[in-house]
Amino acid sequence: MTTNALITGWGMYAPSHVMTNDDLAKLVDTNDEWIVTRTGIRERRIAADDETTTMLSVNAARDALAVAGLDPAELDLVIVATCTPDYPLPATSVLVASELGATRAAGFDLQAACSGFLYGLASGTSFVRSGMYRNVLVIGVEILSRFLDWSDRSTCVLFGDGAGAVLLQASDQPGGMLGFDLFSDGGGCEAIIVPAGGSINPASHATVDARQHTIKMLGSEVYKYATRQMGESALAALRSAGMTVDDVDQFVFHQANLRIIHSVQKQFGIPDEKTFVNIEKYGNTSAASVPMALVEAIASDRVKPGDRILMVAFGAGYTAGGAVIEWTADPSRALLAPGSQTRLGEPQRTLADAAV
Ligand code: ACO
Repeated sequence: MTTNALITGWGMYAPSHVMTNDDLAKLVDTNDEWIVTRTGIRERRIAADDETTTMLSVNAARDALAVAGLDPAELDLVIVATCTPDYPLPATSVLVASELGATRAAGFDLQAACSGFLYGLASGTSFVRSGMYRNVLVIGVEILSRFLDWSDRSTCVLFGDGAGAVLLQASDQPGGMLGFDLFSDGGGCEAIIVPAGGSINPASHATVDARQHTIKMLGSEVYKYATRQMGESALAALRSAGMTVDDVDQFVFHQANLRIIHSVQKQFGIPDEKTFVNIEKYGNTSAASVPMALVEAIASDRVKPGDRILMVAFGAGYTAGGAVIEWTADPSRALLAPGSQTRLGEPQRTLADAAV
């Protein structure tokens, strides 16, 4: 009998601090009109000083486990996709598993930038389908605000912090994860890079002084590559599931730039009602972007059992990925789970002074 990997739990966490475009205009020479027109972003969440990548992950993961009704001790594996871990060493996933009480779970981190969650989902699905594990938690999480040059207007306006998590469970029920495509091209290395802190440029006073521990990006090059590759990854993932664009009920694209999303929509004739967008609230949260959008799409009644969802991401590397789901869970489970979705509400306070 075939073992399928079904998504049975989902959750997200967005830090409560909101930074608006007007807040940013107090830090760098920018304005709300430029940011909204060029990117679609109106505000983003910024982790508080005492929030860690592990904490964001655990908040999202607890919701996912509550939705599924699974005891953390039953988890076999925790995969954390992030390019902003708590430490270079050890892995954030191990800290997340401990904090959750996932006492018998294995854990590893995975770095594929904004495509990381889809790489994690493909990995988790493979573990489940092979029969090695039954309960796998996949988390996409970032605290990018700690890796931004807050004097560089070409990058600091784009990114935000957050986490999204899904629980994959083995089942003989049909549906769940139907197809994937993963892509990489190291030729894009210089286009999005944190130049120092790795083995080529270890941290030094000079690297800190030169702000080389923050994200540098050649925006317009990335833009051109992303618009083309998102379409190719979408088609490749659909092919692997034996489907076409017309078979998809909901598209969940990486929320990097509204213009990139519109360009993919235009390429395939995808209507707005089939395209979930929340970039205006969170900006580009890298590996957290796709799972946060998925969770909010479910919370917005965009997804029902039997629906086919295509998720597509693109990121530094370059990397890209696509994944097709046939949705099987009752979306209202999230509302019944104690504490779940509570953090999807309105922000509790604003960061008017943009003190980051
Ligand atoms: N406010 C005002 N003006 C700005 C700002 C700003 N924040 N940033 C740049 N500008 C100016 C530039 O200086 C330039 O001015 P000039 O014409 O006088 O030289 C002008 O605006 C146009 O700049 P471009 O970079 O050409 O603007 P573009 O339309 O390409 O938009 C953007 C820039 C939004 C970054 C876009 O290129 C983009 O979204 N790229 C893709 C980013 C992406 O998808 N990243 C995903 C991966 S991220 C990861 O993996 C972690």
